[in-house]
Amino acid sequence: MTDTTLDGDETETRTGAIKIHGPEAFEGMRKAGRLAAESLDMIAGEVKPGVTTGALDDMIREFVLDHGALSATIGYRGYRHASCISLNHVICHGIPGDKLLKAGDIMNIDVTVIVDGWHGDTSRMYYAGEPKVKARRLVDTTYDSLMAGIAAVKPGATLRDIGRAIQTLAEGQGFSVVRDFCGHGLGRVFHDAPNVVHYAEYKDRWGGVHQAPDTELKPGMFFTIEPMINEGKPDVKLLKDNWTAVSRDKSLSAQFEHSIGVTEDGAEIFTKSPKGLDKPPY
Ligand code: MF3
Ligand code: CO
Ligand code: CO
Repeated sequence: MTDTTLDGDETETRTGAIKIHGPEAFEGMRKAGRLAAESLDMIAGEVKPGVTTGALDDMIREFVLDHGALSATIGYRGYRHASCISLNHVICHGIPGDKLLKAGDIMNIDVTVIVDGWHGDTSRMYYAGEPKVKARRLVDTTYDSLMAGIAAVKPGATLRDIGRAIQTLAEGQGFSVVRDFCGHGLGRVFHDAPNVVHYAEYKDRWGGVHQAPDTELKPGMFFTIEPMINEGKPDVKLLKDNWTAVSRDKSLSAQFEHSIGVTEDGAEIFTKSPKGLDKPPY
């Protein structure tokens, strides 16, 4: 996902026009989205206690290469892996490595592939063994909030409507919406305009009000929706590796992501699971 902080050379994409894509682009996104989703289907049977996150990443990297595609994250701003694997209180951008999964862990696995130049970006939650009831409720709510966000997508609705649907659902269950990372336009570009924030409005600790833009959705726009929902407070801390984002209060965090296209009457999900493995348990 995109860090909402602007830095220099990104200003152009962030303030740039939102691209409107045609039928061939939809075809390209269907292929890329499908492969990304298939890689998440493939990994579902491999997530269990005793496996390392690095081993899971190796399987994803090989799966993508075996299908003649590229991993968009390898070489992206110095990142070196085919996936991000974010365990428990890690919100996003967890780096795969020699960490062993243990029973009760929950994790997000996020994959972005490039097929014929088009980006398919998707993530799901996974369980190693049996998670606690509260963890399952967080995961279910996060999935529901993604799907509520997608249900709000249609021509004439706005980016703020997406954020409202997500925020209402998550806060209704007593959880919080992470504000420091957002969804993003994508297509031939990995992270493009617009920023897709997952709230409608919030007040910061100085009392400043932050509102999602009321940008109108139009057929042919492509973007991700990828809400990160925390069990506790929404605040983020970045670890010293400069990638791993954790919840400041160490509470559990969950995320799901789809890449979608706005159609004449709603949204087309490019990254739906071909095997129906939409959310755990699988
Ligand atoms: N796939 C992530 C997203 O949803 C981006 C990961 S960038 C990486 O946008 F470099 F951390 F892999
Ligand atoms: Co994304
Ligand atoms: Co992603």
